[in-house]
Amino acid sequence: MTDCRICGSPIAPFMTFGQMPVANGFLLPEQFDSEYFFELAPAFCSACNILQIIDQPDPSKMFHENYAFFSRTSKYMQDHFAKFAAKVCGSHLTDYDDPFVVELGSNDGIMLQNFADAGIRHLGIEPSENVAEIARGHGVNTISDFFDEMVADRLIAEHGLADVVLSANVMCHIPNLNSVASGIAKLLKPSGVLIFEDPYLGDIIKKTSYDQIYDEHVFVFSATSVANAFAPHGLKLVNVEPQKTHGGSMRYTLALDTRQQTSTAVTNCLARETKLGLSSAATFERFRENCETSRHRLTRLLGKFRDENRRVVGYGATSKSTTVMNYCSIGPDHIEFVSDTTPAKQGKFTPGTHIPVKPYQDFISDYPEYAVLFAWNHKLEIIAKEDAFRQSGGQWIEFIPSVCIS
Ligand code: TMP
Ligand code: ZN
Repeated sequence: MTDCRICGSPIAPFMTFGQMPVANGFLLPEQFDSEYFFELAPAFCSACNILQIIDQPDPSKMFHENYAFFSRTSKYMQDHFAKFAAKVCGSHLTDYDDPFVVELGSNDGIMLQNFADAGIRHLGIEPSENVAEIARGHGVNTISDFFDEMVADRLIAEHGLADVVLSANVMCHIPNLNSVASGIAKLLKPSGVLIFEDPYLGDIIKKTSYDQIYDEHVFVFSATSVANAFAPHGLKLVNVEPQKTHGGSMRYTLALDTRQQTSTAVTNCLARETKLGLSSAATFERFRENCETSRHRLTRLLGKFRDENRRVVGYGATSKSTTVMNYCSIGPDHIEFVSDTTPAKQGKFTPGTHIPVKPYQDFISDYPEYAVLFAWNHKLEIIAKEDAFRQSGGQWIEFIPSVCIS
């Protein structure tokens, strides 16, 4: 038993994924012996309806000057953030003379660059110095820090209040969400809005995409839990918009002015979540069983291919794949290497399971028989550009929403 990070009620895990390393902790052989592990165990709080992991490594172990995740690696995501920024400009910045936009966890500036290019006053707050530096190189004003109430005070003194606070795939990373929410409430103008998007609990339950649960994702949100978590800070959920990104995400708009109307999308979404049982313990029990079935099928398939000496590689050394590989005990005897386009990951080994990560060139220069689609959330983009792999006789191994060969 421990206390819910949001409301303080007692919570207990409904399953465990076992011992896990840091999801983005790609490492070298000399680091194998000192690798850090923690128990990855999710719990559901029946008081505020939020899903969270019980233990999380210290943030400094996850977000640092060698952080390995760079948002710009996907063309689809670049287009997505260009559209996101255009929508914010069109819907929320039209009435203002000199608007100010703040993004929490702005990574390499993939979203804010759109505001910078349009000459809009902006500031990114990004704790990992290496990715922050890339953002600056793209003309995006960025400070390296973990946002909280104290940082909000400093920003207000230096820049004034913000019209919009944005974040994408970041809010679910923040364990001290209460401090961050009250910092956002301080930082916003009275007419200001908070708009953020994260992987959506409804999709994770529906697709058994358990790999969205890893150290960085301390929370998995639903509209119900977002409404509950932000209301005590004076932020009201006024709109929700489903997104295709990261295998199914939700974009939430919250207003400081609680007189703002709640959209019918919110009302419908909250009703749908009740119907789907997103606040019911039985749903999480079923999810646990589905995870176990998925693990059994994937390990059986990869074990068979190993015994038949098939050439299997991984496609995309994603953060999510750390959960899959460690939960399913997938190692170098199953997978020869994982192909990834991120230079910072190449030449290193996957966290916990120690499979070599190699450049994309190694994949295309000698196609394997099978490729495990770890970057399944980028499936459409990848399948379209990897036609030659299929033409060579290669096949994909997928495991979300279910284990199959395609
Ligand atoms: P993500 O699922 O967290 O966005 O991470 C995707 C990872 O997959 C990232 O390390 C980059 C890699 N990747 C490729 O290697 N090739 C690709 O075509 C895409 C889209 C991603
Ligand atoms: Zn709670």
